[in-house]
Amino acid sequence: MTVPQPNDLPHGEDKAIIVEEMFDQIAPRYNLINRLMTFRLDVGWRRRTVRGLDLEAGSTVLDLACGTGDFCNDLMRFGLNPVGIDFSAGMLAAAATDAPLVRADALQLPVPDSHVDGITCGFALRNFTDLTDFFHEIARVVKPGGRIGLLDVGQPSNPLLRWGYSAYFGTIVPKIGALLSDPNAYAYLPKSVDYLPSTEELLDELRTVGFTDVTRVPLTGGITQLFLGTQAA
Ligand SMILES: C[S@@+](CC[C@H](N)C(=O)[O-])C[C@H]1O[C@@H](n2cnc3c(N)ncnc32)[C@H](O)[C@@H]1O
Repeated sequence: MTVPQPNDLPHGEDKAIIVEEMFDQIAPRYNLINRLMTFRLDVGWRRRTVRGLDLEAGSTVLDLACGTGDFCNDLMRFGLNPVGIDFSAGMLAAAATDAPLVRADALQLPVPDSHVDGITCGFALRNFTDLTDFFHEIARVVKPGGRIGLLDVGQPSNPLLRWGYSAYFGTIVPKIGALLSDPNAYAYLPKSVDYLPSTEELLDELRTVGFTDVTRVPLTGGITQLFLGTQAA
């Protein structure tokens, strides 16, 4: 599967450069705007993801595209040992977490095969240049029996909620972003949803690279979706 490439959105190496620069730019106010635009729902979504991993205390979890470290903090709250990885120096500099952080590309992890007990990734699937490469990479580094929890925006199944959410995400969020941060970045955000393949494609792709028990959990009426899976033993 190749990530769909809408004509007006960047792709390939251009996309990686633009995404990295964009996050460097918006890093200082990233958390503030996240909390405002999700009404703090993002906090609950990450904690739901960590609960969904269902890993024993002391397990090692890579948080990929960790940004400012929110997921790392939640993982530590649940007694897990996170390592955050992100390619944006700006996001890592703005991070507020005691977890170790590494600057690296999530598509080429500096991690040996079958090395970690779990992986989390929040709101970054849309930002990767190739989701197939990403799924192969996470399948490579997770131990047999290890767990993954991937969180990203979704499409509510209820037509009224879908309409309201689309109006909010497409109109209000870019205005909040323009007022408090970078207008281009927050105009890109709703458009970037077009990169996401359908639920069925995502589930199929995760099964193809070797994950079992793959499920999609819609959160808050489906405005966010969580993909959980277990690395085959
Ligand atoms: C929307 S932010 C999400 C941050 C954090 N996971 C959260 O839940 O708030 C997306 C993050 O993905 C990172 N990112 C995008 N592509 C990446 C890649 N190929 N390798 C590492 N980080 C990447 C960006 O730098 C940014 O920090």
